[in-house]
Amino acid sequence: MRRIAPSILAADFSDLYGDVSQVEGSVDLLHLDVMDGQFVPNISFGQPVIASLRERTDLYFDTHLMIERPSRYVEDFASVGVDRLTVHVEAREDTRAIVEEIHDHDMDAGVALNPDTDIEAIEPLLDTVDMVLVMSVQPGFGGQSFEPETLDRVERIAEQTDTEIEVDGGVDEETGPRCAEAGVDTFVIGSSLFGREDIPGALTELRESIGIDDG
Ligand code: DX5
Ligand code: ZN
Repeated sequence: MRRIAPSILAADFSDLYGDVSQVEGSVDLLHLDVMDGQFVPNISFGQPVIASLRERTDLYFDTHLMIERPSRYVEDFASVGVDRLTVHVEAREDTRAIVEEIHDHDMDAGVALNPDTDIEAIEPLLDTVDMVLVMSVQPGFGGQSFEPETLDRVERIAEQTDTEIEVDGGVDEETGPRCAEAGVDTFVIGSSLFGREDIPGALTELRESIGIDDG
């Protein structure tokens, strides 16, 4: 099943729920990018922001950790109402052990892969993770251009597993359909959605281009 996961990184942080409310009725999940200024150069937001949003919406919180030593925070993110916690294989920790801890805290677990990391890095984890996040840009910033090599990487992963595949970065009406053809299930979209003047209109266009039926 194909789904769009709006990334609030491109939303208006001074009116975060205002932006989220414009997509809330038409999507199932929200993508939350947590950055620490260490694993990636940028700093975004953390648990307090997620806790506040949790009070306003029941959407599934798809949380993408771009932080050093993510194992330190599994319990924290569970406590603010995260539904899925995704960690990078590049985070230099025992990813399998973190996945287990995420599951122990009743969250789904995702594993993320940077564009320059060989896909072999996630293969041993396919039996335990609930989702594979294939980065289609270098992590850390919204608004970058989609890296076309992603399509081949997605195809190769899709050949090996039925696990949900998510793509993140530079997804729009042009790159989204190509991702769909390669086997992507979940499309993270930031600037091509929240960066537009007419957010609900942009969502409709994106859904149509990717082949997601209304309702
Ligand atoms: C980048 C983040 C993305 C980002 C995508 O490191 O992981 O989720 O919000 O943004 P766009 O859609 O603008 O490329
Ligand atoms: Zn992300």
